[in-house]
Amino acid sequence: MAVGNIFQQADHPVLPRPNHDESSRQDFAKSLRGYIQRAVLPGLTPLFAKTAKEQKAQGVDLQSRHEVRRAMKSKPYFQAYAAMTRGAQEMIWHSVIDTLERDWDRLEGEVSAREDDGGALKLDPGMDVPRYVTALDIHCMPGGYDSGDAAGFAAGALYERGVYLYSMGFGGPFNDDKGRSVCNYIRRNLPDFKPKRILDMGCTVGHSTLPYKELFPDAEVWGIDVTGALVRYAHARAVALNHDVNFAQMNAEDTGFEDESFDLVVSHILLHETSGKAMPRIFNECHRLLKPGGYMIHADLPPFDLMDPFTQFVLDNETYYNNEPFWGAMREMDQVKLAKDAGFPADTISFDTAPMAIREQMAKGTGYDADAAEKVANRKFRAGEYAPGGGWEVLIARKAEGAS
Ligand SMILES: C[S@@+](CC[C@H](N)C(=O)[O-])C[C@H]1O[C@@H](n2cnc3c(N)ncnc32)[C@H](O)[C@@H]1O
Repeated sequence: MAVGNIFQQADHPVLPRPNHDESSRQDFAKSLRGYIQRAVLPGLTPLFAKTAKEQKAQGVDLQSRHEVRRAMKSKPYFQAYAAMTRGAQEMIWHSVIDTLERDWDRLEGEVSAREDDGGALKLDPGMDVPRYVTALDIHCMPGGYDSGDAAGFAAGALYERGVYLYSMGFGGPFNDDKGRSVCNYIRRNLPDFKPKRILDMGCTVGHSTLPYKELFPDAEVWGIDVTGALVRYAHARAVALNHDVNFAQMNAEDTGFEDESFDLVVSHILLHETSGKAMPRIFNECHRLLKPGGYMIHADLPPFDLMDPFTQFVLDNETYYNNEPFWGAMREMDQVKLAKDAGFPADTISFDTAPMAIREQMAKGTGYDADAAEKVANRKFRAGEYAPGGGWEVLIARKAEGAS
């Protein structure tokens, strides 16, 4: 599919299509979010410097993100920033719901028409969806991922358009920057690795799943998620985009796939939306599913210990104001230990940064520097760079050759 502006969402038949007024409201919500990031967020830095100085004069050193929060939360400028961010977030979802309601019949026809095409679609309507998914409207998305329409797809369609607005286009035309970035990482760092079977855990609507089929066209690719509404939409979307990818409603903690049946197991921003109890189970499941020599790669948020307390505080606002209860706690978990405990050899486990694919594309587009893309790829990104950041943090581990 030809794509002109890399920040413009690419149309396809199952994408909710806003009319003129809806489009205008969605653009406003996206621009407001961009304005807050560009023009309001930077004001927190001098405010923090001033606050830290005042606190120091009173003998208090702001050494943790919790201490920074305690000192900052009563400041009117910070309160305005937090309220605006929350308002923009809610506006994004609500602006898409208008489109979904108006465009519903067309969408239903387009999704249903693709049910029997493409790769497999396995639904499990009786599945026990984990409470960390059902208990809240994650990132303020009305209904969360489990909107209760087991045979429907509303959560998928809402996420597809809403996440494009949330990312302000930095996910690329197909919202697939995370998958594309990890694929680029694999291409550069594991050039001889040719997986035959690939599993993407917590695939939502398959944004990050499809790039694996592009990079490894002969591989059998599976995307799994816990709700039927997501995988049903993901399947229809993949068919609409001409990709032969399989989707199943499964829990990453216990998938039901056979032992040693995958060469590569990946996830993209799944872990911070699970729980402290689920994470070890997911790591164990990855180890069980991998063939000896296979790779596990989780792309998510950088651990807090790589950042200063102020940066931690800013990122942790998601926990407090965006219905992301595990956002902060997940970053404090010792993921290297979790991987070791799951059976991965210590010398195969590491954190690294996968540069954002869209940044590389932007550099290529400047026309000023032929090596710009490569420079972006090789630049070391500061952990916790504000969104849109420069790279995705990847935890990578390899199952021992002789292991079972
Ligand atoms: C932030 S979204 C992931 C986005 C997606 N991977 C991408 O790159 O576009 C997190 C997803 O993980 C799913 N999820 C949460 N817990 C899960 C579990 N135990 N098993 C499978 N999926 C899970 C949620 O339903 C949600 O769709």
